[in-house]
Amino acid sequence: MIKQICAVAVVVSLGCCGGLTANLVQAASPKDGEVALPADYASWPKFLSGVQREDTKQVRELYVNPGAKACPAGVFPNGTRLVMELYKAKSEGETLLKGADGKLVKGDLAKVFVMEKNDGWGQDVPDNLKNGNWVFGAYGPDGKALAEDFTKCRACHAPLAQKDFVHRVDEFCAQSQKAH
Ligand code: HEC
Repeated sequence: MIKQICAVAVVVSLGCCGGLTANLVQAASPKDGEVALPADYASWPKFLSGVQREDTKQVRELYVNPGAKACPAGVFPNGTRLVMELYKAKSEGETLLKGADGKLVKGDLAKVFVMEKNDGWGQDVPDNLKNGNWVFGAYGPDGKALAEDFTKCRACHAPLAQKDFVHRVDEFCAQSQKAH
C-alpha cells in the first residue's frame, strides 16, 4: 500500500512539468541576444556607478545580481548577471556639459547591455570569440531586444580571460573591499 502511494507521488511530481521544464530551459545555452533583461536589475547592488566615458559621450551605471561573490579572486559564479546602462552625456553642440563636480551630466538612457554566465553556455562561437561561459545581450531603453553585432562585444571582452572577461573587476573588488 505504501509502495503504491509512493508510485503515485512520483508520477504526480513528474507529470506536473512546471519545475522540470524550467530546469531544461535554464540548461540550454541561449545565443547572444537571447539572454533576458532582468526586470528588477535597478534594485540590484551597484557594480560601479557613474563611469565617465568621454570618448563615447556616455555615462554608465553597472549592476550585479545580489549574492554574486566575485572578490577577491575576480571570478564570478555561474548564474551571475551583469547589467550596464549606457546613458548619453548631455552636450551643447560638440561640447560635453559638466556639473559642479566636474563630471559629465547624465542624459537619456540609450541602451542596456547584459552579460550572463552559466554552466556550458557560450560555447557555440569560434574559439577566438569565446568569453568563458558568458553570453551577451542588448536592449533599448524601452526594454526591446536590439540586434547588435555581438561579435564586437565578444572581441573586446575576450582578451580579459584573466579578469573573467569583465573590464573593471579590479575597481569593483577594490570598492567592495572598502565597503566592508
Ligand atoms: C571596444 C570595447 C568594448 C565593446 C565593443 C563592448 N564592450 Fe562591454 N565593456 C567594455 C568596457 C571597457 C567595460 C567597462 C565599463 C566602461 O568602462 O565603460 C564594459 C562593460 C560591459 C558590461 C558590464 C560588466 C563588465 O564587463 O564590466 C557589460 C554587461 C557589457 N560590457 C556588455 C557588452 C555588450 C553586450 C557589448 C556588445 C553589444 C559590449 N559590451 C561591447 C568594453 C567593450
